[in-house]
Amino acid sequence: MRGAPLFPFAVTAFLGLLLILSLSLVGINIGDDLAGGNENGEGNAEQQEFDDPIELGQSVYEMNCASCHGGNLEGGVGPALDGGNYSQEEILSAIAEGPGSMPAGLASGEEADAVAEFILSVSE
Ligand code: HEC
Repeated sequence: MRGAPLFPFAVTAFLGLLLILSLSLVGINIGDDLAGGNENGEGNAEQQEFDDPIELGQSVYEMNCASCHGGNLEGGVGPALDGGNYSQEEILSAIAEGPGSMPAGLASGEEADAVAEFILSVSE
């Protein structure tokens, strides 16, 4: 007798967990579908593989820099980067050091090189 009411409770809890788990799996799938649809629909540059470092750079820029330097490098919180004002070295050191209120280390290695190349290619 003792402990008997616990059993149905445990079953309910278990079913609840299963429900949560399955819902989150469904959510993940929907997320994938949406992302895929976007890429195909708009045909934009956000591919997963980049043969061209400038495309990689553009994607890194859009994700890590555009919020402050503008979608078209026109500037915002940070200075405009589209005027060819900055050399490759200046861009790389800005990324590494984060001048002023710019956070340091937003990109590194290949991605930092690529984003510098992208900025230079746009500002030429
Ligand atoms: C949170 C906002 C923010 C983000 C994100 C950001 N920046 Fe900046 N950036 C700034 C600000 C603010 C300055 C001006 C800093 C100063 O000199 O006071 C700046 C300055 C710069 C400069 C000029 C440095 C110099 O020598 O004067 C470059 C180049 C630059 N950012 C590149 C980038 C790149 C590339 C990214 C992405 C990897 C990026 N920024 C992301 C805010 C940001």
